[in-house]
Amino acid sequence: MPRKIIIDTDPGVDDTMAIFFALCSPELDVIGLTSIFGNVHTELATTNALRLLEIAGRADIPVAQGAVDPLTQPFEGPVPFVHGEDGQGDIFAPEPAGSAINLSAAQFIIERLRAHPGEITLVPVGPLTNIALALRLEPRIADWVHEVVLMGGNALVPGNASPAGEANIRNDPEAADLVFGAAWQVTMVGLDVTLRVHMKPDDIAEYAAHGNPMSEHISRILPHYRNYFEANYDAEGIFVHDSSAIAYLIDPTLFQVRRWAMRVGTQGLGRGKTWPATGGHTLPAWQGRPLVNVCVGVDGERVVALAAERLRNA
Ligand code: BDR
Ligand code: CA
Repeated sequence: MPRKIIIDTDPGVDDTMAIFFALCSPELDVIGLTSIFGNVHTELATTNALRLLEIAGRADIPVAQGAVDPLTQPFEGPVPFVHGEDGQGDIFAPEPAGSAINLSAAQFIIERLRAHPGEITLVPVGPLTNIALALRLEPRIADWVHEVVLMGGNALVPGNASPAGEANIRNDPEAADLVFGAAWQVTMVGLDVTLRVHMKPDDIAEYAAHGNPMSEHISRILPHYRNYFEANYDAEGIFVHDSSAIAYLIDPTLFQVRRWAMRVGTQGLGRGKTWPATGGHTLPAWQGRPLVNVCVGVDGERVVALAAERLRNA
């Protein structure tokens, strides 16, 4: 039986790759996409999610629109220098035909988890606002979910949106602290591993050769994203963030995991830093918090190969 997942996403170039990777993987059954601000504003995230499903020939999958701002303050704004003004590498693709369903992301998540207790894995690859809102509206989702596997955070390495924080967590640290503190199993696939999943120029070139609509779309949107990485990191090609969470779902043996209680910095320069209790710390702030599976090691080459293989055979 394929595993049911809901991907909460801010597409986004790497979100696009992750969504297509999941759709091409027989181990996974994508039962919905929920949109969130981050790489783009929420409304554009919704449009992109609908468009991606149409490209994949999966317009049957529902899209529910999420929150437009973080829990406690206004959204700081999108990152066109990374993902393009359209969140899709500035290719400005045609508008999708479909539209979002008439439920908010949080309502959709609650409704689906209630209908399939124990069966659904939440896969947030953007800021965690929708997940936190769902928890606030219906705390029993912590019992109904199978698990939460998220892309975000930085345990033992610096941030990318600031020296302290990773972009998804920094966009709503209060929401992230709620999600890491709830009584459910969370796995954090963060920068500790995603910056070691390196897609090289040859791997990127391969997409153009596959000749299926998903690979074609990826090869069109990647150049802008790749330019950003090559201008800012000492490497050719890109690092694969969101697809790493999908790889974890398919084959967790590709990752090394440590289990730590987690807090998220919400103040000052440290806003958005994920702080694991690495030294067995029992300070009050970490006491009583659930242990999070934190990915600290990865076989990056195998993750890249797995994602490529799935798109090749799409
Ligand atoms: C995360 O931030 C976003 O820009 C990416 O889509 C990814 O989810 C990486 O820090
Ligand atoms: Ca993302």
